[in-house]
Amino acid sequence: MTDQLYDPSLGLQALAHVEDLAALEDWRVAYLGRKSELMQAFGALGQVAADKRRETGQLLNEAKRQLEQAYEARKDAMSRAALTAQLERERVDVTLPGRPLPRGHAHPITQVIQQISDLFRSMGFQIIEGPEVEWEHYNFTMLGIPADHPARDETDTFWLTDKMLLRTHTSPVQVRSLLHVGQPPIRVLVPGRVYRNEATDASHEAVFFQMEGLMVDDRTTMSDMMGMLSYMARGVFGQERKTRFGCDQGFPFVEPGAQMSIDCGVCQGAGCRVCSYSGWLEILGCGMVHPDVLRGVNIDPDRYTGWAFGLGVERIAMLKHGIDDIRLFQGNDLRFLRQVG
Ligand code: PHE
Repeated sequence: MTDQLYDPSLGLQALAHVEDLAALEDWRVAYLGRKSELMQAFGALGQVAADKRRETGQLLNEAKRQLEQAYEARKDAMSRAALTAQLERERVDVTLPGRPLPRGHAHPITQVIQQISDLFRSMGFQIIEGPEVEWEHYNFTMLGIPADHPARDETDTFWLTDKMLLRTHTSPVQVRSLLHVGQPPIRVLVPGRVYRNEATDASHEAVFFQMEGLMVDDRTTMSDMMGMLSYMARGVFGQERKTRFGCDQGFPFVEPGAQMSIDCGVCQGAGCRVCSYSGWLEILGCGMVHPDVLRGVNIDPDRYTGWAFGLGVERIAMLKHGIDDIRLFQGNDLRFLRQVG
């Protein structure tokens, strides 16, 4: 072979049939490797006749250049094809719509608290909170509920010590906030949990929410109270709702005491089971702050007057959404919570 010309076309033809990287490596070893025919021809150059050596060397170099170039080109083409295939495989369709994120909402009780808070905030009320563990002094005594009053009965109060209890209503915050500001004017709204030691049924829970409202000012009147409470009721239940006030002797800390009703939304006032055929639904207790309560916090009842109300948040939410069991609010059942609000 020493004087025979090396022909690269065999290698170039073989390269055309190489399909993968392993075959390509085999090809490289066979045609460009140390033991390849080409390299052996280089090794034998010394035996070529001196006058032909230069020419043979050039031919071999040219053959090697061709093979190497073809090899690089083939390798390039193969890796480009591999990349294209990978991109094709991993292709992302940017036009696909995104996965919707489920959007939650506030608990129905929280929603009612927020709505009523907004309505009273718009009338200049401040939203405040008080402690759930309370002194009997604030919960009862200063509200004109003496030691022998039936409201203190241990059957409906959770006593912690003989002087401390879980508050049975938000009214003690009336006393606390009056003591805090010192002198009128004051307008506060107090949402919060209250506790009663009672058996649970469709309309009673031992733990529930109330909102207390209190306004004390220079001669604020019962008609101020009726106007603001009616405004609140229409904001919550709809502008077409009617309100009605009736006497209520049940709260020693107000005089006169009253309760407010709205016309029944189920029968439009005609009378049905929901409203016990009266056409009206009682939604809160209210009244003019008793002069003794004002005196108890060093406010002169001849100079200032006040009014207060307390409502049960669950009851409002039940009437608003047509819910017939108070226990659903604490039941943590998403099927219920998703339906309401
Ligand atoms: N605290 C009373 C209750 O628990 C409600 C109420 C508040 C009544 C303020 C009158 C004035 O039912």
